[in-house]
Amino acid sequence: MDSKEIDFYSLGFNFIETKTMFVTDYKDGKWTEGKLVPFGPFEISPGACVLNYGQGIFEGMKALRAKTGQITLFRPEENGKRFKDSAERMLMPTYDENKFVQAVKKVVKANEEYIPPYDSGGALYIRPLMIGNGPILGVAPANEYKFIIFTVPVGPYFPEGFKAIDLEISKKYTRAAPGGTGFAKTCCNYAPTMKPAKETKAKGFAQVIYLDAVEREYIDEVGTANFFAIINGKLASPKAAGTILPGITRKSVLEIAEKKLNLTVEERDISYKELFEESCTEVFCTGTAAVITPIGSVVLEDKKRVFNNGEPGKLTKKLYDLLTGIQRLEIEDEFGWVTVLE
Ligand code: PLP
Ligand code: COI
Repeated sequence: MDSKEIDFYSLGFNFIETKTMFVTDYKDGKWTEGKLVPFGPFEISPGACVLNYGQGIFEGMKALRAKTGQITLFRPEENGKRFKDSAERMLMPTYDENKFVQAVKKVVKANEEYIPPYDSGGALYIRPLMIGNGPILGVAPANEYKFIIFTVPVGPYFPEGFKAIDLEISKKYTRAAPGGTGFAKTCCNYAPTMKPAKETKAKGFAQVIYLDAVEREYIDEVGTANFFAIINGKLASPKAAGTILPGITRKSVLEIAEKKLNLTVEERDISYKELFEESCTEVFCTGTAAVITPIGSVVLEDKKRVFNNGEPGKLTKKLYDLLTGIQRLEIEDEFGWVTVLE
């Protein structure tokens, strides 16, 4: 789509074609020199491993326009590292982490005209995607792969923006089991969450809170974001121990809370029952797309808990201001997290 036709002030989280993508292919045991090409479709064999057996991984990142006009990336090397971990779990070839960051920078520069202006609150979402495109019949890894990076201008993931969302705790569905792929950002983890999301949205909730698959008691995460709660004045988040995606926003929020707000942080099992107690005062979720989204209420069957009359909590707001302030170069980046594009 021509960037001049885009209303950057009313973007949601929807697919919009931009100009340029990065592509590299893996053949005969090595990656080709990657290149920028016009965004567009490519041919794929019906026997491709990704189409038949789901051998695919992806990442999600954002490029932001700061008030100064500079373009920033947030901890892109962490995405490169997680991309490698995901590739290893799915028996796919890894891609050099430094080259990953270089490729991301190139795509962003090539699509600079699609970065929403500072005052729109939007971002250029970056989607690195690796697929096993070689054909295979038995269940085994492909012999050929494609690594693409494309971009999409986006607004908030939840249409509510920085307003609290209502979530349903699911006892019916789980997302990941111990020993499975919960920690990897593989396509296989997302298709199964569409039905639970559709069902819960029909009931008026924004998303599902998934519980652990063994006891259905401890919170894993929200469909596309990590979970946090303020309990007894401490910031708690489920441990990243294999069944949840180790979010980069999650990791950053834990550090900001400890170093900038002097909060005690705990990575531990959180029973859903704790959310219904008075000691739990705020809940929110985090992600690249979700940023920090406050949770106004949680429901489990006929039980409901409303937090702060459905308004964002004070600490949630402080954490949001600190995180987005650092990302947009408005608060000193003492952690060295922000990459400014040349
Ligand atoms: N959990 C899931 C399932 C996700 O898809 C995401 C988004 O990437 C997150 C958590 C948050 O991770 P991050 O903060 O790295 O975007
Ligand atoms: C992200 O936060 O980047 C995600 O990937 C979430 C979702 C769009 C899959």
